[in-house]
Amino acid sequence: MKVEYLNTPDMGKARRRTSEVDTVDYSYVPSEDLKSRFVGKKVYVRTYGCQANIRDEETMLGLLSTIGVTPTENKSEAEIAILNTCAVRENAEDKVYAEIGEFKHYKHKNKNLILILCGCMVEQKHIVDDVLAKFPHVDIFFGTHDVQDLLKLLDLYIHKKQRYIDVSSKEGSIIENLPVKRLDNAKAFVNITYGCDKFCTYCIVPYTRGKERSRNAKDILKECRELVKQGYQEITLLGQNVDAYGKDLVGGLSFAELLDEVAKLGIPRLRFLTSYPTDFKDEVIDVMAKHDNIMKYLHFPIQSGSDDILKKMGRRYTSEQYLEIVRKIREKIPNIALSTDIIVGFPNETYEDVQKTIDVALKADYSSAFTFIYSPRNGTPAAKLVDNVTNEEKVKRFKELVKALEVNFEKHANEMVGTIQKVLVDGPSKKNKEILSGYTESNKVVNFKGSSDLIGKIINVKITESHVYSLTGEIVNE
Ligand code: SAH
Ligand code: SF4
Ligand code: F3S
Repeated sequence: MKVEYLNTPDMGKARRRTSEVDTVDYSYVPSEDLKSRFVGKKVYVRTYGCQANIRDEETMLGLLSTIGVTPTENKSEAEIAILNTCAVRENAEDKVYAEIGEFKHYKHKNKNLILILCGCMVEQKHIVDDVLAKFPHVDIFFGTHDVQDLLKLLDLYIHKKQRYIDVSSKEGSIIENLPVKRLDNAKAFVNITYGCDKFCTYCIVPYTRGKERSRNAKDILKECRELVKQGYQEITLLGQNVDAYGKDLVGGLSFAELLDEVAKLGIPRLRFLTSYPTDFKDEVIDVMAKHDNIMKYLHFPIQSGSDDILKKMGRRYTSEQYLEIVRKIREKIPNIALSTDIIVGFPNETYEDVQKTIDVALKADYSSAFTFIYSPRNGTPAAKLVDNVTNEEKVKRFKELVKALEVNFEKHANEMVGTIQKVLVDGPSKKNKEILSGYTESNKVVNFKGSSDLIGKIINVKITESHVYSLTGEIVNE
């Protein structure tokens, strides 16, 4: 089948940070053919990666709902399949390759099935070239800046039936008023910034998500107000670096001011992700302390506790500076739960570096953490370094780190036993359908017995048992 390139990925172009970003309203009008071809049909979407991708899935489902397409989890009944990919580590990419392979079978069963590859992986030219060559059954590719073009691409495809590639390396405008179909009825994600300008040397995100740019506060507040009106219980404000909010806007709000405004809208729970240590402002601590509905939980990635490694990672702080910010936060919000991201195995990291990380992590006293083994990403500066540490050694150090961190996780979980916690009920627990699970304000998972009509509500749960990664409790009737 012929391949038509509308735009092609280029990490060199994606690296450049120049253009001014404007905001425009979504306006594509799908053809009548598209509507009649798809009305009543199903879409299967598999999203990998972070919340930014989940929010993109919700936009895609929103767009498709305007032509009468509804979601399914059953691949065999899908007329459109979308793999919304993540490129942050190699194992994320491996899973996507496996799933693309699986679709050969479904394509064979349903010749009309349209397979689409989108998300962060597609922003890399070598991946697109590789998939094009190996998997002729992938029909459409589009990048993270092209989500709004989904219906346009489907329109092109059904009229010409050729493979389409539409991966803009430049971010283009911020598109507002896109339709959305949210995946959860109680918890919602709201983008406040897109992209990242930090260029940590190991990370692919600044290339796949482009320049850091802020949405206008009025658009963010409009989306949040709508969510409050619809009865949502929790909003999480999203950005790769939320503290950079507003830097690119003339006369706009700072992140602290925006947070304050959103908190005032009266959402029961407000969270935000992710904070970058040296951009994190004292005013944010004050706003968090001031509002009961801002959860006393902060995801605060450190990545490493070794100053040498932090420098090589291009992180712009020392472990001392990091701990100083933690001290300030704990001083004003003593009951705050902190979590973090840590990478083990950056090129040439020594055993002593990892010991420093353990030491600093114990001082920061995390309640939870996401830990990763370094994965070289094509095109990033760190990927060019020659590494002298074996994978086996990295795995050993990784396990040692996790074990050390778990002491604090367990301690914090233990402290909660006997207390009554407010829990937002998510749904049946993963392991046992008879049991419900939900999150405390401090973002700990609690499992307890209860009826499914509690899903989406905030209830009181007494904690009866603690484990390293979860809690057990019982509902308290007031
Ligand atoms: N903007 C956020 C999240 C970025 S991706 C932040 O800065 O924290 C989420 C996490 O993935 C990062 O915090 C980092 O710990 C991890 N990560 C990023 N690139 C990686 C790589 N090449 N190998 C292993 N882990 C990586
Ligand atoms: Fe990646 Fe660093 Fe940006 Fe986070 S701040 S997305 S780790 S480059
Ligand atoms: Fe992955 Fe892209 Fe998010 S690389 S972590 S899906 S920004």
